[in-house]
Amino acid sequence: MEEYKKKLLKDFVWLRNKINFDFIYDKNEFTYNDIKRYYKKTKYLLYRLMGSKEGYMHIDISDDGIHQNGKNYQTYHVNKINEIIKQNNFKNVLELGCGQGANMAYLAKRNPDISFTGIDLYPSLDKKNRKYNIKLIEGDYHNLEKIESNSVDFVYAIETLCYSTNKNQIFKEVNRVLKKGGLFVIYDAYLNKPRNQLTEIEELGATLVEKGYYLDEFEFIGNINNYIKKNNFKVIKAENMKNKIINHLYAYQNRIKKYFKMGIIFKVFCKLIPKEVLGNIVPVYFMANTVEMDLSVYYYHKLQK
Ligand SMILES: C[S@@+](CC[C@H](N)C(=O)[O-])C[C@H]1O[C@@H](n2cnc3c(N)ncnc32)[C@H](O)[C@@H]1O
Repeated sequence: MEEYKKKLLKDFVWLRNKINFDFIYDKNEFTYNDIKRYYKKTKYLLYRLMGSKEGYMHIDISDDGIHQNGKNYQTYHVNKINEIIKQNNFKNVLELGCGQGANMAYLAKRNPDISFTGIDLYPSLDKKNRKYNIKLIEGDYHNLEKIESNSVDFVYAIETLCYSTNKNQIFKEVNRVLKKGGLFVIYDAYLNKPRNQLTEIEELGATLVEKGYYLDEFEFIGNINNYIKKNNFKVIKAENMKNKIINHLYAYQNRIKKYFKMGIIFKVFCKLIPKEVLGNIVPVYFMANTVEMDLSVYYYHKLQK
């Protein structure tokens, strides 16, 4: 553990010498407008240009945990979700925090008879994907009033519920809209310790990741089990995915180090890009450290109503 803490500090000093990211500490709370603006600014410049051409906005995963440069690991989540869809006779599927609609487009293309609905504060769908059976709702997933009770077979949420500071409300709403026996799948990151038990260095690690991603606060994984129980969900599977993501997270860190090796060109680029994009370098860089030291965890939950 000591070794990981030293590494975090060393990496902090290294990155802070390269760019001044102090501005990420400016805000203590993020409103929905802040989150919307963040995604508006980062949608093309960050996620499409540096991440996925298709518009996926989540981390790379692979079952063997191996990272090979140039290989596509962005369809891991949708392939797993597609397997679940194929195993069940679903008719209505709902995605919470659907972003640019890339997940639904992938699934709708493969499941033309299923109706997909996505809700997001700032939803979009590429023109080429508008022919599929996809409906977008612009709104907050804490309130699913546009969706009838007991009408949905399957709800999934990929790296989006981390934005919520009222997850119990989401579990309650998902329980309301799901049919009996319906499934709820979540891929997300959490804090592995209660906030008030973090050491100074752990607090630094957690803050660096939260602030750059415009998250109010990473939630302690222990709380999630309470929401699951309180809202009468049965846990089919709960998996800590550390071994499936860690090498991919280090690949992001190494990519950033490589960019800085470009010297003045990258420094000028950093001066020109919006602060939302620049700030994102910070969590992308430090995610590897925080997961390696078991300060943050990335979980797959498969739940049933
Ligand atoms: C990291 S992106 C993930 C997008 C998508 N799930 C994917 O895998 O590509 C997080 C998304 O959550 C959305 N979001 C955050 N808070 C939300 C809320 N309260 N209601 C609806 N969407 C929200 C953001 O607008 C953003 O599109």
